[in-house]
Amino acid sequence: MLSNLTAQPQDKILALVGAYQADPRQDKIDLGVGVYKDSTGATPIMRAVKSAEELLWQAQKTKSYVGLAGDPAFSTAMFELVLDGSVAADRLSAVATPGGTGAVRQALELIKIASPNAKVWLSNPTWPNHPSIVNYLGMPLAEYRYFDTETGSVDFEGMLADIKAIPAGDIVLLHGCCHNPTGANLTSEQEDQIITTLAESGAVPFVDIAYQGFGDGLEKDARFTRKIASQLPECLIAASCSKNFGIYRERTGILMAVSESASLQAITQGNMAFLNRQNFSFPPDHGARLVTMILEDQTLRGLWSTELEQTRINMLNLRQQLADELRQRTNSDRFDFLATHRGMFSRLGVSVDTVEILRSDFGIYMVGDSRINIAGLNSHTVPILAHAVSQTIK
Ligand code: LMR
Repeated sequence: MLSNLTAQPQDKILALVGAYQADPRQDKIDLGVGVYKDSTGATPIMRAVKSAEELLWQAQKTKSYVGLAGDPAFSTAMFELVLDGSVAADRLSAVATPGGTGAVRQALELIKIASPNAKVWLSNPTWPNHPSIVNYLGMPLAEYRYFDTETGSVDFEGMLADIKAIPAGDIVLLHGCCHNPTGANLTSEQEDQIITTLAESGAVPFVDIAYQGFGDGLEKDARFTRKIASQLPECLIAASCSKNFGIYRERTGILMAVSESASLQAITQGNMAFLNRQNFSFPPDHGARLVTMILEDQTLRGLWSTELEQTRINMLNLRQQLADELRQRTNSDRFDFLATHRGMFSRLGVSVDTVEILRSDFGIYMVGDSRINIAGLNSHTVPILAHAVSQTIK
């Protein structure tokens, strides 16, 4: 039976991790997978997480099952963090999932049950695992324009035109903030136009929000998601705690559904719990419990949000430093967009060949589409990257 298997395509982002680890060079630089690194190159456990873990170790009396949807307190805490009361609680359903990816997967499976012929529209480009999962589930897929490679900014005219043409009932996957891989985001006015368009067409938004707190701050980063949830009849939201709580390996995420009316809440919740049962039964609890403890406790929450804000500011400073260095070394404004982008990622906008030379000659690893993880840099490596890029694009 196993002899029937053929090799699966490699995940572009994860393949880089192995290649980087195998590289013996001491001065190599990893700008691949989206993991935050501090100035020493470490991915620290956040102070609030460490404290919550200590408290949990003292207080937890059992490891028995919690529930198919996870702890309801986690859902309540996440409703507050992501939606902040923008929707009546009786229209909300939620299940804890293994990470944000688990939430994306469960959302797509829910769509498949509810509306088997719905086409899923993804931004071009998007996180490579989005189309990968949609294809794996055998769902119809299409793309809407999103990015203008010339300017390094959102191709808003193209995006709006494409979204206007999406028929009622199709699904539009939108990045809540900090677009991955481009780092180029909508203005508040552009968000409003997208929402008006969706309201007119009846296409259903599905928001993936994996970087709340990494762009313009916890509240501003949730703005688009909150507007969608409050102004449109229904939506799905996949939220991740991997990045903003730094608990990557704990696999902590949540799928939320906003239903058109309270009368649909119980059936929605039931279907989501059913899907958890079919796919993995009970969701992981440890990370979700830490997040709940942090969000519910004023002191821990203060500690967490302060550290998250510092992380965000570090990334903004690195963006500015990189844009400045590149401006100086290339004597052009070609890379100025880096300073205005938000979140962990930006695409440098250099060719696949340049990406390859940066890896082979300089030991600098980035995704083939020239996506760099800003948080993989530090003030010492920014000039090294800028130098290498300026030499390579000559
Ligand atoms: C990324 O885009 O690098 C992250 O979302 C991590 C991942 O799983 O790909």
